[in-house]
Amino acid sequence: MNKLPRSRADKALHKKDILFAAELRGIKPSEIKTELSNSSSIINRRSFLIASAGSATWLAMGGLSRFAQAAPASPFVLPALPYAVNALEPVITAYTIGFHYGKHHKAYVDDLNKLVAGTEYADMPLEKIITETSGKADKSGIFNNAAQVWNHTFYWQGMKSKGGGEPPIPLKQKIDAYFGSVDACKKELVSAAASQFGSGWAWLILDGEKLKVIKTSNADNPLTMGKKPPFTIDVWEHAYYLDYQNLRSDYVNAVLDKLINWEFIMQNAD
Ligand SMILES: [Fe+2]
Repeated sequence: MNKLPRSRADKALHKKDILFAAELRGIKPSEIKTELSNSSSIINRRSFLIASAGSATWLAMGGLSRFAQAAPASPFVLPALPYAVNALEPVITAYTIGFHYGKHHKAYVDDLNKLVAGTEYADMPLEKIITETSGKADKSGIFNNAAQVWNHTFYWQGMKSKGGGEPPIPLKQKIDAYFGSVDACKKELVSAAASQFGSGWAWLILDGEKLKVIKTSNADNPLTMGKKPPFTIDVWEHAYYLDYQNLRSDYVNAVLDKLINWEFIMQNAD
């Protein structure tokens, strides 16, 4: 991995963004400063407790699809990360997640709420807004923000600290059946991610019973094709540029080898 060299100014900014991302997750600024000055591990435990509570709620709801269908309409809320802001280090740094989750994902939520206020979309679940506005040029702002909210919420769930390794046996058998091997599946994902021109997403989708890899541009996602995705990886530059600069494939390979959450994928691959 080719990380940016960190100057003292970089480190100060890094700390600032950790604080910002943690604050978004309900930690008071005074508490964050105290915790960081006393022990860098306290913020991790505090964040972990918040993330764990979110994960428990998530699991109780049975995963993203049921969660999304059950989610209320606007105002939409930025969902808690399912792990601490630094849980994916060193593959994805807290510095990147501070911007990606705390600023980009949050901005999509905020902009969506502004755009749907007072419209027919204000009372719709997120997934319905996406399918209703897809392909409508005059609704592209609503579509882009709604889809990006959904895509990012889904993306975070597909990774975990100390992920990677081998999939559970039932999922491995299914991947073997459609790709030949787990490595071949991962290679298709890397190829799709690397060949996506400009911003977009690489996806593992269910096409009927069959698992396939596709890529989409900008905010587009498989829901608009009537397909269910078990996994996605964000290949917008904001997802990896601070950590990997132009080496998009290195980022994708590292996520697939070290962070991929196979259990989450299995839940969504039936
Ligand atoms: Fe993103």
